[in-house]
Amino acid sequence: MTDTEMARSFLAPAQGYDALMGRYLPTLGPAFADAAGIGPHQRVLDVGCGPGGLTRELVARTGPGNVAAIEPSEPFGQACRERNPGVDVRAGIAEDLPFADAEFDAALACLVVGFMSDAAAGIAEMARVTRPGGVVAACFWDLAHMQMLRRFWAGAAELAGAGRGEVGLLGSREGDLFALLTGAGLTDVHEITIEARARYENFEDWWNPLTLGIGPAGLYVRSLDDEQRRAVRDACRRQFTAPDEPFTLDARAWCATGRRPSVSERAAPPASRPAPE
Ligand SMILES: C[S@@+](CC[C@H](N)C(=O)[O-])C[C@H]1O[C@@H](n2cnc3c(N)ncnc32)[C@H](O)[C@@H]1O
Repeated sequence: MTDTEMARSFLAPAQGYDALMGRYLPTLGPAFADAAGIGPHQRVLDVGCGPGGLTRELVARTGPGNVAAIEPSEPFGQACRERNPGVDVRAGIAEDLPFADAEFDAALACLVVGFMSDAAAGIAEMARVTRPGGVVAACFWDLAHMQMLRRFWAGAAELAGAGRGEVGLLGSREGDLFALLTGAGLTDVHEITIEARARYENFEDWWNPLTLGIGPAGLYVRSLDDEQRRAVRDACRRQFTAPDEPFTLDARAWCATGRRPSVSERAAPPASRPAPE
């Protein structure tokens, strides 16, 4: 799975993403915005906004005129624009943000760092466009506790040659986000977990979005022939005790927040440095 293949997988219709991942944003978005301390009057940037699930939450907190968003996928960016009138939604990537230094009170990236070609550069750019004292925040799925992906890859593992999926993506392990934010020179860095959930009508409602070619799971399903796909589907179905009934799946994400150091903090000598005589 190359960076290019992954980027292409996000050139899908926004409705497909809604059904696959967007259904977690009504719970993930508020939890993430709470962790980042987003409130009224703050100027906020949503990096890798997708079709705008988090953008919507940011608009509700601080108003459309205070929110900007950036997204490389044209269909996702267009959906975000249509769904969030008044928000400045631009085409672009985290690693090269088209914003001035210190333009925002906070910059957030929800489920994005694992897909950046250069996450360190992306977080450094988020820090650059955030004012001194402002917040940079990132979250990414904790795969051991993201039931939707966990069940999918458990089913896929029954077929020889199943890929590693999201396992190994930066951000999916404890401490990844902490290290990224600390490495970008942010202070007061904390990593916590946040919770989300989504409801499904039945197994078909769960399985169908996985066949749309979106993200690592979608790319994997697309790589299978008909017989293999049927085998994975059947194995996944066995992961559910009542596949024809409605169900809710829980999910958990790692979430790290940090502050861009203020000018005085940057100027202060390290505590361990001896005072000049
Ligand atoms: C899993 S989606 C998350 C979308 C949205 N933030 C959400 O939570 O629903 C990952 C998004 O990151 C975008 N993306 C990938 N590489 C990126 C990069 N280098 N900079 C910014 N966004 C990127 C993808 O196009 C995709 O929309």
